[in-house]
Amino acid sequence: MTEDDLRETLEIEGTTIYSPWSRDMFLREIERQNPGLIVFRVENRLIGYFCFWKVMDEAHLMNVSLHSDFRGKGLGRFLMNYLGDTCEQMGISRILLEVAETNHVAIKLYKKCGFVKVGIRKRFYEQTGDDAILMEKLIQAHSVP
Ligand SMILES: CC(C)(COP(=O)(O)OP(=O)(O)OC[C@H]1O[C@@H](n2cnc3c(N)ncnc32)[C@H](O)[C@@H]1OP(=O)(O)O)[C@@H](O)C(=O)NCCC(=O)NCCS
Repeated sequence: MTEDDLRETLEIEGTTIYSPWSRDMFLREIERQNPGLIVFRVENRLIGYFCFWKVMDEAHLMNVSLHSDFRGKGLGRFLMNYLGDTCEQMGISRILLEVAETNHVAIKLYKKCGFVKVGIRKRFYEQTGDDAILMEKLIQAHSVP
């Protein structure tokens, strides 16, 4: 993601009810050149993005979203696979994320992509008062034959 992506990113981010990020939050990640801040474009249209923070050998997925025109078409799985590959290449062994207990589409997606529930964070989302489910996925490094 670069500053040129911000307008389209914020349009998508504005549609989420779960702790939407501000322009400054994205800008901070761009300025510190976070390699975990990735956008996806189809024919030059920004259709989605994710952001993770690398902490030692762990990745914390902080944000992931698709444009509403592109949801429910299996693209979430593509984004999550890309996330897994990127983390593996960076030597990350564990991905962690929080998801609202009411976000059934996201929970279903994460389970399909190999994430398992490891805890609950009570009233994690200030706006809605929802609890968050803490999920993790362990990444197996490819063994050298
Ligand atoms: C969460 C998100 C990235 C998922 O991506 P997606 O491309 O829409 O998800 P998929 O199409 O891969 O669908 C995932 C599963 O949910 C199901 N699903 C999709 N839309 C659904 C809906 N409206 N109602 C019920 N189930 C639905 C799909 O059928 C699929 O299950 P299946 O593989 O058994 O068929 C996307 O919906 C999104 O951007 N949501 C808004 C932001 C958000 O909530 N981010 C997550 C924060 S933790």
